[in-house]
Amino acid sequence: MTAYKIITVPHAALKTSSKPVDGVSDSVRMQMDGMLQAMYDAPGIGLAANQVNMLNRVLVMDLSSREDEEEPAPICMANPEIIYESEEMSVREEGCLSIPKQYADVERPAIVRVKYLDYHGKEAELEAEGLLSHCVQHEIDHLNGVLFIDYLSSLKRNMILKKVDKLKKQNLL
Ligand code: NI
Repeated sequence: MTAYKIITVPHAALKTSSKPVDGVSDSVRMQMDGMLQAMYDAPGIGLAANQVNMLNRVLVMDLSSREDEEEPAPICMANPEIIYESEEMSVREEGCLSIPKQYADVERPAIVRVKYLDYHGKEAELEAEGLLSHCVQHEIDHLNGVLFIDYLSSLKRNMILKKVDKLKKQNLL
């Protein structure tokens, strides 16, 4: 299996909008497997293709460790599309494997419904609220070249970018 390295800010791939896949081929499935591995190793609960420097619309998530489940519960999506979002909003603290060790409150629609192709290439839908809702919106943002810090004031965003830069220079990442 390909071992993927997760890239961190600043990197052009993190600011780039990814292209849809034609379908879930064996190579896309291999990519999903590799991304899940990289995400579990990190560890994290979500990872988008941009974060492993691949510019197709593929993301993976698994919230089981956060919800005290013992069994892994991976969700793989290709070409995800938000088809419904609630007017009600939700604020939650978010972090990102590409912006290591930095966290901030982000406001998003509380409930979303997402249409996507699953691991087997079948059309599927997911309705998400709570942590899963924030996670899937955060990962779809990545596919559009958007980061959670883009929702913050430029002052806060620059502070976070400086902190990551400092951690890199001190070899603490
Ligand atoms: Ni992220």
